Amino acid sequence: MARYFLFFVTITFILIVSNDCLSPIIFIPGSFCSLLEVRINTTLQPSCPQSLDNKWILLWLNLRLFEPSYLSCYHNIFRFNYNSSSNSFENPLGVETRIIVNSINGSFLDGLLWEYIQLDKFLFHFVTKHKYIDGQNMHSVPYDFRRGTNKTLFVFNNDLKELIESTYIRNMNKSVYLISHSTGGSMVLYFLSQQLQTWKNQYINSWISLSGNIAGEVDNIENLVQGFLSPIVSREVIQSWDFFAWRLPEPMIYGSERIIVKTPSRNYTSYDMLDFLHDINAKELSLIYSQVSSILASLPEPNVNTYCFYGVNISTPIGYISKSDRFEDNKLETIRGWGDGEQDDTTNMSCQLWNKTMDKKYKFISKGFHRISHTELVGNDKVLEEIDQIIFS
Ligand SMILES: *[C@@H]1O[C@H](CO)[C@@H](O)[C@H](O)[C@H]1NC(C)=O
Ligand SMILES: *[C@@H]1O[C@H](CO)[C@@H](O)[C@H](O)[C@H]1NC(C)=O
Ligand SMILES: *[C@@H]1O[C@H](CO)[C@@H](O)[C@H](O)[C@H]1NC(C)=O
Ligand SMILES: *[C@@H]1O[C@H](CO)[C@@H](O)[C@H](O)[C@H]1NC(C)=O
Ligand SMILES: *[C@@H]1O[C@H](CO)[C@@H](O)[C@H](O)[C@H]1NC(C)=O
Ligand SMILES: *[C@@H]1O[C@H](CO)[C@@H](O)[C@H](O)[C@H]1NC(C)=O
Ligand SMILES: *[C@@H]1O[C@H](CO)[C@@H](O)[C@H](O)[C@H]1NC(C)=O
Ligand SMILES: *[C@@H]1O[C@H](CO)[C@@H](O)[C@H](O)[C@H]1NC(C)=O
Ligand SMILES: *[C@@H]1O[C@H](CO)[C@@H](O)[C@H](O)[C@H]1NC(C)=O
Repeated sequence: MARYFLFFVTITFILIVSNDCLSPIIFIPGSFCSLLEVRINTTLQPSCPQSLDNKWILLWLNLRLFEPSYLSCYHNIFRFNYNSSSNSFENPLGVETRIIVNSINGSFLDGLLWEYIQLDKFLFHFVTKHKYIDGQNMHSVPYDFRRGTNKTLFVFNNDLKELIESTYIRNMNKSVYLISHSTGGSMVLYFLSQQLQTWKNQYINSWISLSGNIAGEVDNIENLVQGFLSPIVSREVIQSWDFFAWRLPEPMIYGSERIIVKTPSRNYTSYDMLDFLHDINAKELSLIYSQVSSILASLPEPNVNTYCFYGVNISTPIGYISKSDRFEDNKLETIRGWGDGEQDDTTNMSCQLWNKTMDKKYKFISKGFHRISHTELVGNDKVLEEIDQIIFS
């Protein structure tokens, strides 16, 4: 009996110890994967029904707002207005928006549009296989994906820093794994570029970037011209989000040879994105382009252990052709090449830079996953296995 009891105690002890030893994980989602809420003053926004007046409701993703009777209201509240005296984009009058902040004890999936990228599978993997505890050593951090100025990114940086520090302390001072998806990678890189090296050495164990769009995305061109799932997020709405001036293809990676948009009288490369914004009539974005496109333009080395994972070998947009010089018909023909179905291969070259520029004391691995798509990468078994190797070996 005593032997069994001892055995039981030992097992329990091992479980407690191994649980205490887990390195916390903080997940940073991609674009369109955070939930947004809105409060409308319908006196100031008369296109919105009075039934929505002065209460917090879901803005993204709220299927009800896609109904024809709500659509013009929806377009009016999802957009920003440009304020020329502050040279910035702001909510229209009578519109307040917020993210659903993930509190320190909050569930990993809170505030995220998790169904979309199989994030529940990701969570399930760590909770069942490795005995992680949701809300204790697994967290996520949502953000307003419409934004892309250093002023707005600053808000995100504070949220993430606070979460990292409190998670670290709650987990016996174990440094944190940051795992990002897509635009989350750009958010993390900016965050890391703004932190002191001593802080990073203390709090960050590693950064694992899944499908990171670190050098911008070619397919943002398509959103700017045609909208996103148009008419749900129309081009007028898209062209009021500073994000789309921030995450156009970076000249340092895409260079001056690669033609990204072709019209009868012009070839646009990554160096011509300012003219492109002008020519599609996104004048307000063009006013902030030089400022926001410089935020990550030097692709600063993260100087933490860094793993870049990508899907490869899937047909992917690598450029566009417009029949009209002024993009009047809002239609583009897609030129296809290789990538993960959404992001072309070239954006991975940003990680490759760090093989040379990053301090050699940090690990650096870049890896392609055959025929695993942009969103599938998060819940894919092979990728999760690879992450297990990094965290538990
Ligand atoms: C809505 O805006 C109107 C006009 O500015 C104002 O009189 C009213 O107090 C606002 N409603 C709320 C709930 O703030
Ligand atoms: C525009 O920005 C200026 C300067 O920050 C501010 O005073 C003004 O209230 C803003 N205008 C609107 C309509 O929000
Ligand atoms: C989080 O949970 C801990 C106990 O698990 C509790 O002491 C603490 O007050 C909670 N914090 C918040 C902000 O809910
Ligand atoms: C944002 O960037 C501009 C130009 O690079 C700089 O002048 C400004 O201080 C930055 N603001 C913040 C909050 O970092
Ligand atoms: C964690 O670090 C803080 C200071 O950084 C220290 O005060 C605290 O005692 C440490 N806790 C543990 C469990 O090591
Ligand atoms: C655009 O590039 C193509 C090569 O892909 C070239 O044949 C064409 O002349 C260029 N057009 C303009 C207007 O420079
Ligand atoms: C990275 O991009 C380059 C250039 O587009 C491509 O040749 C290479 O296969 C990509 N590597 C990975 C690991 O995806
Ligand atoms: C980084 O560079 C070294 C030496 O040039 C090379 O052996 C290694 O494969 C590179 N790593 C990656 C991830 O590209
Ligand atoms: C992509 O496909 C090519 C040709 O089928 C293959 O040689 C290559 O290994 C694949 N890339 C990866 C990362 O599996």
